[in-house]
Amino acid sequence: MKILDLSKIDLSKEAPEVEPERQYYFIAKARAILKKQEEEAGRKLTFCVTTFGCQMNARDSEKLTGILEQIGYIEEPEEEKADFVIFNTCTVRENANQRVYGRLGQLKRVKKTNPYMLIGLCGCMMQEPEVVEKLKKSYRFVDLIFGTHNIFKFAELAATRLESSRMVIDIWKDTDKIVENLPSERKFPFKSGVNIMFGCNNFCSYCIVPYVRGRERSREPEAIIEEIKRLVADGVVEVMLLGQNVNSYGKTLDNPITFAQLLKEIENIDDLKRIRFMTSHPKDLSDELIEVMAQSKKICRHLHLPVQSGSSRILKQMNRKYTKEQYLSLVEKLKTAIPDLSLTTDIIVGFPGETEEDFEETLDVVRKVRYDSAFTFIYSKRTGTPAAVMEEQVPEEIVKKRFHRLLTEVQRIAEEVCSVHEGSVQSVLVEAVNEQDPSLMTGRLSNNLLVHFPATSDIIGQLKEVKLTACKGFYYIGELI
Ligand code: SAH
Ligand code: SF4
Ligand code: F3S
Repeated sequence: MKILDLSKIDLSKEAPEVEPERQYYFIAKARAILKKQEEEAGRKLTFCVTTFGCQMNARDSEKLTGILEQIGYIEEPEEEKADFVIFNTCTVRENANQRVYGRLGQLKRVKKTNPYMLIGLCGCMMQEPEVVEKLKKSYRFVDLIFGTHNIFKFAELAATRLESSRMVIDIWKDTDKIVENLPSERKFPFKSGVNIMFGCNNFCSYCIVPYVRGRERSREPEAIIEEIKRLVADGVVEVMLLGQNVNSYGKTLDNPITFAQLLKEIENIDDLKRIRFMTSHPKDLSDELIEVMAQSKKICRHLHLPVQSGSSRILKQMNRKYTKEQYLSLVEKLKTAIPDLSLTTDIIVGFPGETEEDFEETLDVVRKVRYDSAFTFIYSKRTGTPAAVMEEQVPEEIVKKRFHRLLTEVQRIAEEVCSVHEGSVQSVLVEAVNEQDPSLMTGRLSNNLLVHFPATSDIIGQLKEVKLTACKGFYYIGELI
């Protein structure tokens, strides 16, 4: 998506103050510096963006990629071979952080052998002051550090680093700014994530996201619709609307609109075939939304509805603002209104104070709801969150045992739930050549399950009718109709 003509930008002038024009100016500037480096090196220089964490981060990485390509870098899939490596980090659980430090250690060696190599770090981890302190002290070879609130400034920061050869650090504590119309490169030509809001105001007691992503901000509906129309004109048939809590979309806009209303407008976009969204907080899921989903021809039959725990007592401690009973009755309502709806969830095991009885309540919810799949996490203590200072942190051995019991139950049920579609014919978005067997294509059902079937790659990106001949646990083998 190229919006401004870079060749018309006059670099002898001062950078414009307004966005996004300012960033296009710096793209042009970085491009001029890169050209010189390439002449000197006698080759093209490359980049690699590695993403940790959620879909929001994945979407941000597409924006970084778009800018790097506009600057003139060529994509290189292998981190160690690239000249500009970026880690877009996640800090939702401790193990995500550890992986980043591990990878950085490996890159240090490589950097010594490549004079053009730059290493950039961004994303949620960078919003934690202790992390930046540690990097400044022990990882001096890092070139560029920025956070989640100023990711739109990436071109400017990259240009600054290319000019100065000194470590560039720019972290904002928060922002109310949303910069539209920057370049972005999609990973898939036929589907795309679309941010509808940023940040989170919910402060679940275990969660660091509100601290590192800032307060909730919704994009204007017109900007969202315009972006989707542009994507559709460019070949996209499926969009995934992204936000930490899409159900509270639009509440803070000058002209408030509900998420359900936004969905109705998106539904009217010609040639858009499928709409997905995540994540839905149960406390804000409205009857209006259920009705819109039930009537929609485009909204996929899949809802990710994180429960986190089945114990009302723990849910209260987690600040989730619903009880087990409220969650179960919401699920009932959804299943009645949309009988073929597939439900998935997130569950945390070992939240402080979780007893065997609390854990049994979680198992009970899993058995009652019968999820198509569930992401299960061991509670991870995040400094600065209320749960981190709660007493009665659950011993590791107990948590591990519960985690395995939960996983076994989730998988047993998921296999049963997934197999109910065997023999049916369903509409499938063909996404890729099967990784193991190139004679098969892999497609996605409306309910988010995968199906592999014999076909050729010319149908990638199209919606096809496929008969689901055999269920293999969590995916299907099928045949084209
Ligand atoms: N906004 C989304 C979740 C974003 S984080 C929502 O509210 O549903 C994705 C998942 O990570 C959460 O649903 C939760 O299950 C898990 N998670 C968040 N913080 C965690 C922590 N401290 N320890 C373990 N899991 C955590
Ligand atoms: Fe975290 Fe809760 Fe916000 Fe989700 S809704 S991002 S779990 S604070
Ligand atoms: Fe991780 Fe940030 Fe997403 S902490 S889960 S990448 S919002």
